[in-house]
Parts: sequence; C-alpha cells; structure tokens
Amino acid sequence: MPEVKLVNVSKRYGRIKANDGINLTIKDKEYVSVIGPSGCGKTTLIRNIAGIIHPDEGEIFIDEESVSNVPIEDRRIGYVFQNIALFPHMNIWDNITYGPHVRGLPQQQTRPLALEMLDMIKIAARSEAYPHELSGGTQQKTAVARALISDARLLLLDEPLGALDVKVRTELRYELRRLVKDLRLTALHVTHDQEEAMSISDRVVVMKKGRIVEAGTPVSLYTRPQHTFTANFVGEANFLKGIVVETTADTSVVDIGSGVQLRANRGKETVDERVIVVFRPEFAVLDKPIEVNRLSGKVMDVLYSGSIIRVMIKLPNDETIAAKRIASFDKPMYDVSESVTISVSPDNVLVYPYPEEGLKKALALE
Ligand SMILES: Nc1ncnc2c1ncn2[C@@H]1O[C@H](COP(=O)(O)OP(=O)(O)OP(=O)(O)O)[C@@H](O)[C@H]1O
Ligand SMILES: [Mg+2]
Repeated sequence: MPEVKLVNVSKRYGRIKANDGINLTIKDKEYVSVIGPSGCGKTTLIRNIAGIIHPDEGEIFIDEESVSNVPIEDRRIGYVFQNIALFPHMNIWDNITYGPHVRGLPQQQTRPLALEMLDMIKIAARSEAYPHELSGGTQQKTAVARALISDARLLLLDEPLGALDVKVRTELRYELRRLVKDLRLTALHVTHDQEEAMSISDRVVVMKKGRIVEAGTPVSLYTRPQHTFTANFVGEANFLKGIVVETTADTSVVDIGSGVQLRANRGKETVDERVIVVFRPEFAVLDKPIEVNRLSGKVMDVLYSGSIIRVMIKLPNDETIAAKRIASFDKPMYDVSESVTISVSPDNVLVYPYPEEGLKKALALE
C-alpha cells in the first residue's frame, strides 16, 4: 500500500560504498525489482528500508513520513530474507504464526490470520508438516506468508526464489506478483535474474557499485536502455565501436570498420563522434534480410537450445556478433564456416557516446 521514498541514501562499510546516494521512489502498490551484479548493494538497500541498518546519510520516507526514528516493528514491513529459511524445528503453522506469537497476540486472534495466509498460498493441508518435508517452493511460500501475517503493507523480498529450480521459480514468480496485486501491497523484489525482474515487475531498477544506473519499465529498459551497462546486463547485446560518418534529422550512419556501416535512428550523436552501436541478437534478421543495414559474415559457432538458434557471426571488420532466431523446420541449423547475410532495422540499432572509462569498464560487472 504505501509509497516509499529514498532521498540521497548512502551507507558505507569501511571503504566500500554499499549504497551511494540512492534516490528512488516506489509508488503506492507498485511492484519494483532491483537487479544488479553481486555486491552492488541490493541487500543493503532493502535493509535500509526495513530499518535493520541505518543510512549514514540521506533519509527514507514511508507515506511521506521520515522513518529515521521508526523501529523495524513499527514500519509494517514484511521481509523475506536472502538465504534465511524457515525455523527447521517448527512446523508450518508455528513458522507462520511466529511473529504474532512473539508479539503476544492471543491465539484466537492469530488463528484466523494464519488460516487466511495458508489459504492464500494454498498449503492449508500441509500446516502440520516440517520445513524439511516440503519442497523448496512451498518453503518459500511459507516464508512469504510468515512475512505477511503481521499486517505488512510493504513487502521486501531479497532473492526469494534464488534457491529454487527453474520450473518452480518461474511458476512462483507469477504467484508472487498475483499475491502482491491482490493484497494491494507495495513490493520491492531483489534478484540476480533479469528475466525474473522483467516478467514480474511494473518497474525495474538497475544498480551498479552502490548506485542506481537507471530505472524504467521492463519494455523501456530492454528496448531503449539509457546506458550500455543496462543493455549488457538486461538481456544480451552486441557492442561495436564506430565513428559517426553522416547524420540527417532522424538517422545517423556509423562506420564500424573495414567499410562496414550501420544506420541507426538518430540520438544526440554528431559527425566524427566516437560511439558504440548496440543491437540485440534477436534483432539481427538471419533470413530474408531487409535492404538496409545488411552485413555479410561467416558463421563461427552455432548453439541450439530448442526454441532458439544462436549463431555467432564474424563480420568483415573481424568483430564477432551474436544473432538469434526462432528455430524452424525449414532451416534447422547453420553450418560453421557458412556465409550468411544479416540485417538489422535502424529502429533496433542504438547509439551511445563512447564511454570515457572505455567500453570494457563501462560494461564490467564489478
Ligand atoms: N555488514 C557488512 N559489513 C561489511 N561489508 C558489508 C556488510 N554488508 C554488506 N557489505 C558490503 O557492501 C557491499 C554491498 O553488499 P550487499 O550485500 O548489499 O550486495 P548485494 O547486491 O545484495 O549482493 P548479492 O547479490 O551477492 O547478495 C558488498 O561489497 C558487501 O561486501
Ligand atoms: Mg544480497
């Protein structure tokens, strides 16, 4: 339910800036995910909001009220911890009712709440079971129920699905979203998994080294990332260095070496500027290439993963790019050394200024 606002929040551990000037508003009833490489400060961000740690600088507001002096138990937050499972010696019922129990809530008040929770996560029949008797997925659902039973309005989830196998993980992510939307909660969900973040969230926040790189809807982050780091971290992308050789009002032509040129929708770039051109492998059309942006190349490697064929192609400028297409019966495979022509629509070619720190550093996860 509530709106959460972080203003210039910083937290240091010795020389490490775990959170470095974070400004972020999570709107009422919004489902926001935070993604970023390991150690970029995701857990620190969540712990700051929960009140488990306190920022060195900056302020956090919940519903426009500063929570600097509000203790954890009064923030009405449900917290599902990273890697902290259920109490192993307690059955599901006792795990779920642990919070109300330690707060001294009488049984007759706790009971309907717990029944509601069990019903919500559809494990009422297993309330007597112990955690080790349950699947990982059910254990995590119980952890969510335990977090929500105390009338939480804000749900903080730190890698809630991290330990589960892919199938269960995929199923549970939709259940989590449904739960949050049905209960009209506000949720902040931390994950390593960019696909999980995109499919579950209203908005995704990308972090690197304690800072927010950018935030946006899944579609805008994927199709129009503002930074090369995001283009690389969210999904997969090809990065080619080049120089702008021509611009019109709405297009730019970038020379990427050995006479190979790519036309892109115009951004802010100007003629002679050093740039990086970026396109996603699935936007490189392998069959029936269009007239614009045709690139010829040689197949270096082919990866077949059922629905998708991923082909590595060496261009005449010696750069290797990835192209992806949906597998089909007409052309089940490509051969290594085969000559191919691909094309990329200018709409799908993005141009970025050449990063001051160099491309490798700009994309680096650490
Ligand atoms: N209590 C602490 N004492 C010292 N350093 C810490 C502490 N907590 C976090 N850090 C450091 O702060 C940085 C951010 O840590 P944090 O746990 O927030 O990262 P994260 O994004 O959650 O990483 P992961 O994806 O691996 O969980 C890391 O360099 C970490 O080592
Ligand atoms: Mg973490």
